[in-house]
Amino acid sequence: MPNLEPLDKIERAGADELRDLQLRRMRWSLRHCYERIGFYKNRFDECGVHPDDLKELSDLARFPFTTKRDLRDAYPFGMFARPPSDIVRVHASSGTTGKPTIVGYTRKDIDDWAHCMARSIRAAGGDAHSVVHVAYGYGLFTGGLGAHYGAEKLGAMVIPVSGGMTTRQAQLIHDLRPDIIMVTPSYFLNIVDQYMAQGWDPRQWSLRVGIFGAEPWSGAMRDSIQAGTALKATDIYGLSEVMGPGVAQECLETQDGLTVWEDYFYPEIIDPETQQTLPDGCEGELVFTTLAKEGTPLVRYRTRDLTALLPGTARTMRRMMRIKGRSDDMMIVRGVNVYPSQIEEHILQMPELSATYQLEIARRGRLDELLIHVEMNQPGQPHQPAGKTLQQRIKDTIGISSQAVFHEPGTLPRSQGKAVRVKSPQ
Ligand code: DLL
Repeated sequence: MPNLEPLDKIERAGADELRDLQLRRMRWSLRHCYERIGFYKNRFDECGVHPDDLKELSDLARFPFTTKRDLRDAYPFGMFARPPSDIVRVHASSGTTGKPTIVGYTRKDIDDWAHCMARSIRAAGGDAHSVVHVAYGYGLFTGGLGAHYGAEKLGAMVIPVSGGMTTRQAQLIHDLRPDIIMVTPSYFLNIVDQYMAQGWDPRQWSLRVGIFGAEPWSGAMRDSIQAGTALKATDIYGLSEVMGPGVAQECLETQDGLTVWEDYFYPEIIDPETQQTLPDGCEGELVFTTLAKEGTPLVRYRTRDLTALLPGTARTMRRMMRIKGRSDDMMIVRGVNVYPSQIEEHILQMPELSATYQLEIARRGRLDELLIHVEMNQPGQPHQPAGKTLQQRIKDTIGISSQAVFHEPGTLPRSQGKAVRVKSPQ
């Protein structure tokens, strides 16, 4: 797909220009938080820091973190830096436990977000001629509306399908011939199944690019999607607390991790235990400070997502590696930390297995055991050889014992949005 739109000037800027802009914006943002949000005024005072202490970007390390807990405690509006009359929209995080986190956007925040999303879609190869099928859910979740505003800003034609009604999704792709789809990778698989169930071939369809995010997915999943369909799969990252989708996006030409839109969001990696900032290249917890957000700005927000920062390639801005997992999704099996994406890598390397799977920790006697529920690709296949191979590979690479439990095609629950990879105990 030719990319006809010019990049933003800052996407091509040298590192010094970018750092200057970040420093200017960070000073503004720290002051904005301190002067307008009681939580930050108290927290900064307790830690003995003041926005004027930020002389260079590395001084950020002196400022306190913000956690999900802090946001929950401030429910619903305690972290708003602007009065309700300045807020034009709210979204909420998809919190699985307890209260959600409410985030507020001023008119400028919505414009900035649309801008970051338009930039993301363009990095994925989109332009004003694109036809974009949006299958992220619309509503309090940021996926649908975030994608929608970005695609419109780019001048593309948007098909705002939202999540669900999967047969209709397949029909619309067939009839309206979009070239870009924006959807969670797990729900995408569900749509592909429905498309094929109609007797159509996804290797022949109009879709050329997928902008997949909102949940962890593996490199093996990308390979499997690209082998089975005509599209290139790119990764998009974001979280509602920080803005929504469009915090970072993988460039189509390199497909080598996600460029962080560092002029809006300043990333750091910390050791989750010691909370020390780690140098680029080291894996740890991703932390963001918003640089331009007016409604609900954040200082050093701990995302609980694990990744590493890498130097820029297609852009000057740094990249982040695909997210390995979320600390909340980490399973501990007999003392070994395991993320679903590590298991997914192995499942997808076996052609007889499908990409639909769920994990469960079961107790056998006094020991934990990982059960891997996975569908076979073909009905009525013998399970035993695949089971042995999968278990052995997981033992050899991750070091844990597991038990594969095979299911007939189409029998495990299908994702309608974010997949639930870890089954809660019965
Ligand atoms: O999931 C925003 C979003 C919508 C991103 C559409 C991309 C596409 P939340 O519901 O607040 O917001 O969930 C944020 O989802 O902290 C990660 O754990 C996870 N996540 C988001 N994108 C990715 C990704 C949206 N590309 C949480 N890879 C984040 C892995 C992701 N995990």
